[in-house]
Amino acid sequence: MDQRRAPYLEAIRAYAERDPARLHVPGHKGGAGADAGLIETVGEEALAVDIPALTYGIDLGPEPTPFEQAQQLAAEAWGALRSWFLVNGASQGNLAAGLALAHHGSEVVVQRNAHSSAIDALVLSGLRPTFVSPELDPELGIAHCLSPEALEVALTLTPAAVGAWVVSPTYFGAAADVRALAEVAHAHDVALIVDEAWGAHMAFHEALPEHALAAGADLVISSTHKIVGSLTQSAMLHLGGEARVGEDTVDRAVTLTESTSPNALLYGSLDAARRQAVVSGRELLERTMGALAQAREQIREIDGLDVLDERLAGRPGVHGYDPLRLAVDVRGLAASGYELAVLLREIGDINLELYGQNVIVAVFGMGERSMPEAARLVHALREAARRVGTDPRGEQASFAAPPPWGELAMTPREAYLGSQEVVPAEQAVGRIAAESLATYPPGIPNVLPGERLTAETLAYIRGTLELGGSIRGASDRRLRTVRVVVE
Ligand SMILES: Cc1ncc(COP(=O)(O)O)c(C=O)c1O
Repeated sequence: MDQRRAPYLEAIRAYAERDPARLHVPGHKGGAGADAGLIETVGEEALAVDIPALTYGIDLGPEPTPFEQAQQLAAEAWGALRSWFLVNGASQGNLAAGLALAHHGSEVVVQRNAHSSAIDALVLSGLRPTFVSPELDPELGIAHCLSPEALEVALTLTPAAVGAWVVSPTYFGAAADVRALAEVAHAHDVALIVDEAWGAHMAFHEALPEHALAAGADLVISSTHKIVGSLTQSAMLHLGGEARVGEDTVDRAVTLTESTSPNALLYGSLDAARRQAVVSGRELLERTMGALAQAREQIREIDGLDVLDERLAGRPGVHGYDPLRLAVDVRGLAASGYELAVLLREIGDINLELYGQNVIVAVFGMGERSMPEAARLVHALREAARRVGTDPRGEQASFAAPPPWGELAMTPREAYLGSQEVVPAEQAVGRIAAESLATYPPGIPNVLPGERLTAETLAYIRGTLELGGSIRGASDRRLRTVRVVVE
């Protein structure tokens, strides 16, 4: 296949350029009926290619249609048996993965710090999870990946499991030993599902950690928009290996979780991003990695700051490191990551992807002008460090470890859909949660539907809110009340 082509992108452009009679949705009719401000903001061209699904010559007509060709090109680029374009993010990939797995059985092993959309997938699918803890880094106060040993124990304890669901790489750039995880899963005759939301670029440079499909994963969720740079909300789901998850079941699940009006710009951006990654990805990544290596060196020279890098590899739960995240360890400063994030905004209008107590994370895209952006960050960090000074306790500064999760008293689905009531947070201790409470960033659930709430966990979440974080999943985003199951 010719990876220099972008058949879907070309087809929607061709449709727009031939000025067809658009007797279909959307009502702005390729821009003619759009608000002037919208046209000015997104441009006439973007509106002209806002074309609905089931349009002849795009995703209807002689097969393979341009839409099918685009997905085949993506499958070839990432080494998948089949790839699906998604318009509701990697979140949709997780939802579809859960629904597909539920065709094969009712139990699954899930890495506990899965993204909240994976937990939503448990609610939708009814799967009963056995949670397994990733390796926690007591020094940095962050969670890394799942070790193959921990997966082995969890799968032995869950003989009816039909899949093992893990995350790699993490928000902070730690990559799992996916090859070893796949061997463990396959030895138990279950599929390995890898949420590789943060790793779509890893297939395009040999210096990066091995990407999940190459390492033997069976289903891979890929948030193409995050680093590779398709439009926000666009993502892919890849079927790999020996089709341990049925292709038809994945297809049904993707259909169930998507709008009947997928946005052509999102699909087109996936087609374009795949082309860019295949044709120029290696060169772009080389440049970005070079700029970030230099920025890391400069940041390490600032008093009170350190960076996360390949030195992490070898720690429990870290097999490799993805350098496209610039994660800065701020424990040596007399300010938390939360406070530093505010300062960076004030100093240089620097807007970070993620900030926590000890680490802040700047994300770099595969093809961006990384050198000037990294220099801007370094400059602002230098100024921020000068203003706040170093912490005399330095490396000793401790972090608040997330408390152990509560007992799973019923499945997430039973709890989410069961009889429930809203109670003041202080009366929720000991009750079964009917909703998930995931402190954001980074969106990892502290409480899941079906789990008993503990005083420690509620206090931890309140602490995060006080530090400027937020919660996802909660019906009361200030945590004054909690939705619990009526027992
Ligand atoms: C590990 C992981 N999986 C899935 C998602 C969801 O991705 P999206 O925002 O593309 O829906 C995220 C988002 O940050 C994530 O970090």
